Amino acid sequence: MNESILIKPPIAIEQIEARSKDLDFGMASDPRTGALLATLASSKPGGRFLELGTGTGIATAWLLAGMDAASSLVSVDVRPEFQAVAKEILGRDPRLTLVIEDGIQFLHKQEPQSFDLVFADAMPGKYESLDEALVVVKPGGFYIIDDMLPQPNWPEGHDAKATALIDRLSRETAFQVAPLHWSSGVILLVRRPEHA
Ligand SMILES: C[S@@+](CC[C@H](N)C(=O)[O-])C[C@H]1O[C@@H](n2cnc3c(N)ncnc32)[C@H](O)[C@@H]1O
Repeated sequence: MNESILIKPPIAIEQIEARSKDLDFGMASDPRTGALLATLASSKPGGRFLELGTGTGIATAWLLAGMDAASSLVSVDVRPEFQAVAKEILGRDPRLTLVIEDGIQFLHKQEPQSFDLVFADAMPGKYESLDEALVVVKPGGFYIIDDMLPQPNWPEGHDAKATALIDRLSRETAFQVAPLHWSSGVILLVRRPEHA
């Protein structure tokens, strides 16, 4: 499969990548994760989307590329110097709200089952406060994480954390789960409608 001809990065990506390099920001999502996020976002017209961990806005750009005009995206990060790149390049898009706040504090203020898609790309909502992130997913909505296959930049002991997270997700009965050997290793969950 020649996947490269199917993956079409949004035009903002080139600019964001250049700025990320200047900042030495090496945590950006790769194009395969981006293409998946854009595709899932396209399935939710008028959707409400959440990204935990904006970084410089790579996945933010992909999500926006998949969303329709009636959808909205909130993206949260604690590092203003990273999020400033997303603000500069994507900030004029009225569908996007950028928030500087700790992800856990942000999650605590959200209504249950209020997002159609949560991309949990920071420690909060993934390795910390997982329950708080899952609870905000609407019935039929997506919860997505990447970097679940061993990565060269994982710190000592991170593999045990990843194993524990996978084990925890395997016991999650309210969600349908698909582990994908795609990109850096994606786990995609959908809240089962009968668990509304
Ligand atoms: C993997 S990077 C995000 C990459 C980004 N989603 C992308 O696709 O390029 C993780 C981000 O989480 C942010 N972060 C770390 N701790 C956080 C916290 N407690 N709350 C919110 N964001 C946090 C970091 O500043 C970093 O920008």
